[in-house]
Amino acid sequence: MQEIISYLEENKNRFLLELKEFLAIPSVSTKPENKQEVRRCAEWITAHLTALGMQNTRIHETDGHPLVYSEWLGEPAKPAVLLYGHYDVQPAEPLELWTSPPFEATIRDGNLFGRGATDDKGQTFIHFKALEAYLKTLKKLPVNLKLIIEGEEEIGSPHLAPFIEKHQELLKADLAVISDTPFFAKGVPSICYGLRGIVYMQIEVVGPNRDLHSGSYGGAVHNPIQALAEIMAQLHDRNGRITIPGFYDEVRRLSKKEREAYRQLPWREAKYTKDLGVRQLYGEKGYTALERLWVRPTLDCNGIWGGYTGEGAKTVIPSQASAKISMRLVPDQQPEKIARAFEKFVKKIAPKTIQVSIQCLNLAEPALTSIDSPGVKAAMAALEKGFGKQPLYQREGGSIPVVSHFKKILGLDTVLLGFGLPNENAHAPDEFINLENFFGGMKTTAHFYDELARQINKR
Ligand code: BES
Ligand code: ZN
Repeated sequence: MQEIISYLEENKNRFLLELKEFLAIPSVSTKPENKQEVRRCAEWITAHLTALGMQNTRIHETDGHPLVYSEWLGEPAKPAVLLYGHYDVQPAEPLELWTSPPFEATIRDGNLFGRGATDDKGQTFIHFKALEAYLKTLKKLPVNLKLIIEGEEEIGSPHLAPFIEKHQELLKADLAVISDTPFFAKGVPSICYGLRGIVYMQIEVVGPNRDLHSGSYGGAVHNPIQALAEIMAQLHDRNGRITIPGFYDEVRRLSKKEREAYRQLPWREAKYTKDLGVRQLYGEKGYTALERLWVRPTLDCNGIWGGYTGEGAKTVIPSQASAKISMRLVPDQQPEKIARAFEKFVKKIAPKTIQVSIQCLNLAEPALTSIDSPGVKAAMAALEKGFGKQPLYQREGGSIPVVSHFKKILGLDTVLLGFGLPNENAHAPDEFINLENFFGGMKTTAHFYDELARQINKR
């Protein structure tokens, strides 16, 4: 291992320059105008993986953005690992809130700032460099490796399940690994064993057939913004519970053991509250904040618009108003069922004065992965070697759609070996990756593949 670790140590500066190049490509999957940039990013990865010694690296077309497949299969007797990452990023807007430009990565105070720095280009790149270290020094990997790096994760991976279905033989492996989650806290490494699912809906409320003078017409018609606000306000009750009938039917109860384990975690509500700058926290009654984040489902408005939002006063009753709503789901809620229940309920409570239309934008299932697997054992040992501390077990509130696809289609458990930090501003202005975690992540990943070969052969 010494040779590998020295290689990682000696090439740190070059790694930073390469990551900056990767981050400079604005691969924003949700924006049609960035389509070519998304493809350019897939091409960059293909060239990069080829140069570092991976084999059979190529772009696979999908009905959406391309994905990159690559492999190294030089040890037929050893286990095979399926590594997943995503090279697409969220939009960088609002641009004026960035301290340095989002696509010109910049280092400040031991952190590298840029869109995708932690989610997920930076974390995916950590693996690239661990693989490079093996392939450039020992000319081989400790395990067989198959990679898929996709370009549509941030829009719900709409074309990934068909790809996996079609290429089951190609993707056959002993386990999957993803680095796209944060540590519990800085200096507190963790293994994540649960993710929430998601249902993302959009509501459009239409009132009069045109915008109206709010003096001439105010009092005669139902303002669509008000009607939308009335709908929104009915989606939670006073206890912070979601009012959609059947919403909680399939929610798995939290076990005493898990509850107790979460209470033992080094987490303080006062500190969390202060850090977020809120006066107090909010959420479903009867649960702690960590429980509400990890094991309870939620409903949030992500955007709401209508009428005049420019400078100054314009007196207008708009013809339309809209909202984007996400629901985070936990085992065993089913996204399709929840989407239908949402639609039915919103239609039922919508005032008769307006027309409402509802669209589902994306879906992902919640996921739980086993913590007794050899993959998790290897990850625990590797994190201890890479960061000098025994990791904690935790869940997360975010979603990674592929985890349930791997389980359902390929029968694979995924090890969520993330190197982010909870405050790295993923999806927000000034996203960054902490450089200690970035370089520590490379060492850990190198140890992980090495440990894995031993853990799996022990079986
Ligand atoms: N890296 C995140 C997932 C994540 C976030 C894991 C926070 C753990 C903690 C991922 O890239 C992401 O943001 N996913 C989207 C998926 C959605 C668009 C289907 C999400 O969770 O909003
Ligand atoms: Zn991500």
